[in-house]
Amino acid sequence: MQLKDSYDRTIDYVRIAVTDRCNLRCFYCMPLEGIQYEPKAHLLTYEEITRLLAVLGNIGFRKVRFTGGEPFLRKDFIKLLESTHGLNKYDAIHITSNGTLLEKYIPKLKELGINKINLSLDSLDAERFKKITRRNDFAKVIKVLHRLMDEGFELKVNAVVMFGINTQDILPLVQFAQNHPVNIRFIEEMPFNGGYKENIQIFKATDIYRIIKNEYPSLSTQTSKHGETATNYIINGFKGDIGIIPAFSRTFCNTCNRLRITAKGEIKTCLYDSGVFSIRDFMRSGVSDEQLTAKFIELVKLKPKNGFEAEKHKKNALGREESMSSIGG
Ligand code: 5AD
Ligand code: SF4
Repeated sequence: MQLKDSYDRTIDYVRIAVTDRCNLRCFYCMPLEGIQYEPKAHLLTYEEITRLLAVLGNIGFRKVRFTGGEPFLRKDFIKLLESTHGLNKYDAIHITSNGTLLEKYIPKLKELGINKINLSLDSLDAERFKKITRRNDFAKVIKVLHRLMDEGFELKVNAVVMFGINTQDILPLVQFAQNHPVNIRFIEEMPFNGGYKENIQIFKATDIYRIIKNEYPSLSTQTSKHGETATNYIINGFKGDIGIIPAFSRTFCNTCNRLRITAKGEIKTCLYDSGVFSIRDFMRSGVSDEQLTAKFIELVKLKPKNGFEAEKHKKNALGREESMSSIGG
């Protein structure tokens, strides 16, 4: 079965934030202090997540991404990976991580056939990394990045590009892809930073493109995969490749294939909506799998046309106090 939304898009990809906690403090994501973490009882349990994934697997979902916060910060995260693997429903189980806690799990990930990891890394400069993440983990992340490449993982590096902060990192990051088999992705900054700053000046995808194209004229567009938010590019002679994600400009919504579940079990049919339904409370009220299935089908039909429409209908017009750590980066 294929699940379609009201705009005839096939929805087959779910992103689940397993925790809202993080051991870094990337300033575009979280404030330095005063973060209100959800109490544990508010989070979906692993059993609940596995149940949801089983239900979604039966209505055509084929890809799941676990995010956070930092997913490896949650106790026994590997157990969730095991139970998801055990469902035998998903073609792809992916993880987005900051890499700081990941290294010791590499053998286990390989054993489970989980070979696609997105690492968050916004700078190849130790000082700037520290400034952005407000933590001292640069060496650890670089080490795990190399280990993952050596072990044959399909690796993407997510770099949020921030006006006046790390635009000088664009070209060094691009250059990294010359000799390494990695997909370097530049992401437009989005306003979900836990209320840390209200007005951000967006360094646009088109500006990122111009900087790279200027230095590497052979930069050329690749065809995108189903539902991909990144426009991908290759450069002659490069081992790796480049992606640009217009996360703020939102030019990719017409091919969106995803649903999000936040750490506390809110369904988001769009990154820019305000959380349309608590699937956690619904589940905890004792509903059957059939009722859950019907609810998902109903929710998918509510998926807005694009991120601008979603934002217009937000309960809280600004909603900027939200953080990607609870939405699921
Ligand atoms: N803008 C863009 N991307 C963000 N992420 C977190 N906060 C933001 C933001 N404000 C992304 C980062 C990270 C992932 C966890 O979420 O790319 O890799
Ligand atoms: Fe943690 Fe990722 Fe947010 Fe940084 S962006 S604070 S690594 S969840």
